[in-house]
Parts: sequence; C-alpha cells; structure tokens
Amino acid sequence: MILATPVTERNLEPIRLGSIEIKNRVLAAPLCGASKIPFRELARRYGADIAYTEMVKAYPLVRGRNDRRTLELLQTEAADAPCGPQICGAEEDIMADAARRLEQLGFPLVDINMGCPVPKVVREGAGSALLKDPSKVERIVRACAQAVSVPVTVKIRSGWNGSQCTGVDVARAAEQGGAKLITIHARRRDQFHSGEVDHVAIGAVKRAVSIPIVGNGSIIDAASARRMLDESGCDAVMVGRGAFGRPWVFREIAHAIRGLPPPPEPSVDEQHEVVRWHIERTHELEPRRANGLCRKYAAWYLHGAPFSSFFRNRAFRAGSREETLALVNEFMDLKRACATLAPGEPAPVPPFVAEAMRKGEAPVEEPEDEVCDV
Ligand SMILES: Cc1cc2nc3c(=O)[nH]c(=O)nc-3n(C[C@H](O)[C@H](O)[C@H](O)COP(=O)(O)O)c2cc1C
Repeated sequence: MILATPVTERNLEPIRLGSIEIKNRVLAAPLCGASKIPFRELARRYGADIAYTEMVKAYPLVRGRNDRRTLELLQTEAADAPCGPQICGAEEDIMADAARRLEQLGFPLVDINMGCPVPKVVREGAGSALLKDPSKVERIVRACAQAVSVPVTVKIRSGWNGSQCTGVDVARAAEQGGAKLITIHARRRDQFHSGEVDHVAIGAVKRAVSIPIVGNGSIIDAASARRMLDESGCDAVMVGRGAFGRPWVFREIAHAIRGLPPPPEPSVDEQHEVVRWHIERTHELEPRRANGLCRKYAAWYLHGAPFSSFFRNRAFRAGSREETLALVNEFMDLKRACATLAPGEPAPVPPFVAEAMRKGEAPVEEPEDEVCDV
C-alpha cells in the first residue's frame, strides 16, 4: 500500500548530516559482532552512505581505565569513512562525556542506541528501556548535542510493547533534544529481531518530526526497500542482516531508489574476491578473534549453489584461516562449474559432501546471531 509519495517521484537531493552527504539514501546498520571495518568498507564500496560501528557502552569509554575492548570496537581507518559510532547508556553526564570522546577520536557524528532489547542492557535503563521514558530521551540527547559540534542521531524502535507504542513520543523528544536524524527499527522491543515490521509506525514518526527519518527492519533487496520508502515516506533506509553475504544489496537499493534498472548480480569472481577479502582483512585486524568471526562470515556467503548447507556446516567447524579459505575456494569453484552445466546435467558432488551423505550427516542448525556481546 503506497501511503506516501513514491520515492522515485521525490526530490532526491542529498541529505546533509554535518560533514556527511547522504546521497544514495541507504545506510549500513550497527550490528554487534558483524559491522566491523571490513563489513563497513564493503558496504560503502557498494553504495552505503554511512556505515555504523557496533554499539559500545558509554561508561567504559569514559570512566573505565583505557578500556581496550571498547576502543577495539571503535577501531577505524582512513578508508572507513563516513563511519558512525554508536553509544549506549542511561546517564546524561556519562553519555555526554562519551559523545565528546567520540568527537575527539575524529568521528563525524554520534549515534545513540535506544533500541537494544538485550535484558542486561535494558536492566541498566539503556537501549530500548529508554523507549519507556521520552523525557529521559530528551535529556540524554540534549546533553550529548550540547557536548559536541558533530550531529547527534538516535536509533529507536517503534515502541516497547503492544501497549506502549511510544515511537512517536520518543522521536519528538529526540528532535526536541537536538537530534539531527532518527533511525527507526520498525519493531517493538518485545519483538526483538523477528516478526512483522510496521511501516505505518515509521510513517507516523516521519509525520511527527521534521528531521530526516531512516527506516529499518527486514530490508533484504530493492523491492523491500522500495516498499518501506513508499509505504512510510521515510527519507532513507538502513540495512542490517540483508547485507550478510550480500554487500552488493546497497547498490541494488541505491539503483532502485533512483528508478534505475537493477545492476547486474556480481560475477562469481567478484563474489569470490569479496568473501576472500572479508576473511583476510578480519584476520589482519583482529587476529585473536578472527577464526570465530570468519566461520560466521564465510557461512554468510556460502549460498546460491547446490549443497550449500554442507558447505556452511563445514564453515562453522573450520579451525583456521587456511581451512576457511580452502572451503570458500571450493564453493566458488562449484558455483563456476554449475554455471556451465547443460540443462538437466547434475551438479558435480564434492567428495566431502558425498562422504557426509554416505554417513547420513544431517545439516547442522545454523547458530543464531549473537546479538550483543558488550
Ligand atoms: C546480530 C545483531 C547485532 C545487532 N547489533 C546492534 C547494535 O549494536 N546496535 C543497534 O542499534 N542495533 C543492533 N542490531 C539491530 C540492527 O541494527 C537492526 O536494527 C535490526 O537487525 C533490524 O534490521 P534488519 O532486519 O535489516 O537486520 C543488531 C541486530 C543483530 C541481528
């Protein structure tokens, strides 16, 4: 149902956010355990206007003694721009100090997390707990906005639960406090990360404030992005899990927003280069954690060829960079081979797949994404 001016009929001048120009109107979401430097750089390579860090807690950033883990999560580099850092907390003075620290570190904006549903975060009154307290939202945003000269933005949800759909009140409070842009994940806190997204709730927030609104939730391709933009009237969209293993989704969406024909799907060689680069860069940047991270990252890309689930099973058990890369190479070779098959010709069965089938090995359940480790 189209409730707003279709995006392709709108004036799509860039949105200015401090020093940043939002031209393509598609952003890469903050994602604990995922939106690290390589993910962010790939997102931008394919057109994301801003890519966010995973959230960090404000307290260790400013009160902890040189908290190494927090600073690691905020690690960045010249090619990683524009990068939006995200902080989480419930106390105005600590949040303001954290915002100051982020500005000192050179970030071009400060984003405040008001949507994290994780119980240990909510218990501290932070993340989505703030959805229950619009006046606190206003105080926190004001304290941060007064502390820094870069724009302060917030990421909210449509509400706390079915009887507290506070998105509009929270958005108004954030604007009142000085926020320059609001991203709304169109789910309530009680939905965590699944269930229907509510485009009507995004539309209500859009109409209630005059700052730019970014819609978020279950955008996986150009069609879902267009649907959210057209149904809600939001100014831009943010993609999270839809970019796992498909960073080119940003380019597809950027084209669709401009009404351009869809770009071609990247060749297998290009996909191969992307996944290899993602794995290699992760090992360079976080050698101690890379193996665990890359099991998950490799599995994101192991789709779109026969026996994919067997490859993903193996990826989850890979013990080293070499093992992960060898598996990826084998998968991409299979993908190439499949592209040359005559109609009806069966795909070649990789020996490890034949062996697994012979033993009757069932595909392993894919591990749930760890939503937050801070
Ligand atoms: C694994 C995971 C980690 C997340 N980490 C964060 C985070 O650090 N900060 C945040 O604001 N949202 C976080 N989110 C929420 C996403 O940014 C996004 O709002 C949500 O996944 C809905 O978008 P999607 O359906 O496009 O994934 C996380 C979600 C997932 C699945």
